[in-house]
Amino acid sequence: MQNEENNVMEKIVSLAKRRGFIFQGSEIYGGLAGAWDYGHLGAELLNNIKSSWWKKFVSDREDMYGIRAAILMRSEVWEASGHVAGFADPMTECAKCHHRFRTDQLDAEKTDGGMKCPDCGGALGESRQFNMMFSTKIGAADDTAATVYLRPETAQGIFVNFKNTVDAYHPKLPFGMAQIGKAFRNEITPRDFIFRSREFEQMEIEYYIRPETWEVQFEYWQNEMADWMKSVGMDMSKVHVLDVAPEDLAHYSKRTVDFEFDYPFGKKELFGLAYRGSFDLTNHKLDYHDEETGENIVPHVIEPSFGVDRAFLALMISAYTEDEMNGETRAYLKLAPHIAPVLAAVSPLLRNKPELVEKSRAVFSALKKEFGRIAYDDNGNIGKRYRRQDEIGTPFCIVIDFDTLGENPANLDTVTIRHRDTGNQERVAIAELITFIKSKITA
Ligand code: GAP
Repeated sequence: MQNEENNVMEKIVSLAKRRGFIFQGSEIYGGLAGAWDYGHLGAELLNNIKSSWWKKFVSDREDMYGIRAAILMRSEVWEASGHVAGFADPMTECAKCHHRFRTDQLDAEKTDGGMKCPDCGGALGESRQFNMMFSTKIGAADDTAATVYLRPETAQGIFVNFKNTVDAYHPKLPFGMAQIGKAFRNEITPRDFIFRSREFEQMEIEYYIRPETWEVQFEYWQNEMADWMKSVGMDMSKVHVLDVAPEDLAHYSKRTVDFEFDYPFGKKELFGLAYRGSFDLTNHKLDYHDEETGENIVPHVIEPSFGVDRAFLALMISAYTEDEMNGETRAYLKLAPHIAPVLAAVSPLLRNKPELVEKSRAVFSALKKEFGRIAYDDNGNIGKRYRRQDEIGTPFCIVIDFDTLGENPANLDTVTIRHRDTGNQERVAIAELITFIKSKITA
């Protein structure tokens, strides 16, 4: 079973590279651990994940305010948030090979009681706390330069704009602020493909509430998170809810629920939901004037936090399917139409027949204008095109054939649509194509 699972991971990593979803960062110079570059298909898939999230949690709601804050933030922000003092992992280094490990992740059995290096058997040094924030300097000369940090969570970019948002929009409690953006953590052991990186993206909400409503709000947001996961096509049989034990809570949290996922490399965190109380607003010395009661109060915060790259990985794992079609094994990504990087591929049955090509280009242009995520594919024979599109998760392949041109008059100006998951085909009028495809986009 374990081998099979490792195999799935290897297949996904290889597909992601071969088909241009994800490449190692700085690859031509030997790679940079914990940094990943997304190719065209990967960038499209990421955009679809983020758009679906933004639509559900921001555009479709009346009580949510979007924000795009700066990545570089002053050190005072991270002092107030507790990250300078407390955002650290325990680290140990091997005296022989100098590999570093997170002490809390060392497997006692493999390390002979926790004292030996799992890579070379050398002696491990004493465990020390390692702060995971990346810092840099702003300013021309070293002596006048100020230390700033690349944010390790998007959350603080939201909190520091609480007053700006309240002053600009005068929202009534409860209301939320949402942000999608990069976060940076100097992880001691980046690993498992894009699961733990040093540069990654988050989609976060800080939802401001009256303190007495926290339990109801917590449950509401837990359900909302699960609804979104279902809507993007996450395999919910692989998703588990873990109530984080009090001794394992982050420094700001009063209660945290982790959504865990069965990755091929084990059950690990996917997303988190935290009750941050008034920790952040109090530390930033911010409050809210409640027009209903006339009082100034410090709202409490419920924080649904999603890693974009982990969403991507969990979706690839959920979607990766192998079956047999026409006597051959095929691998395909069973991605939902609103998430797939390519919604439909348009092909002429034969690429050397100008009349088929002309019609195909016209259909392609009309669909491209409407949906954007449309590919023109005339490479190799039709069977090969289907396999190629299956592998990247394209739900529909549209073929222009001689019937389209009127060889069979009953089929004039119709095309075949081949469905990825079943391989079934049906004929649809060109005039109905846009409506047909729209009807299949369910979210
Ligand atoms: N603002 C709260 C916060 O940042 P977190 O649990 O540290 O909480 C939230 O991070 C989410 O960000 C995680 O659930 C995960 O999806 C993602 N994440 C955290 N560290 C990551 C890393 N090194 N690589 C990729 N994603 C990461």
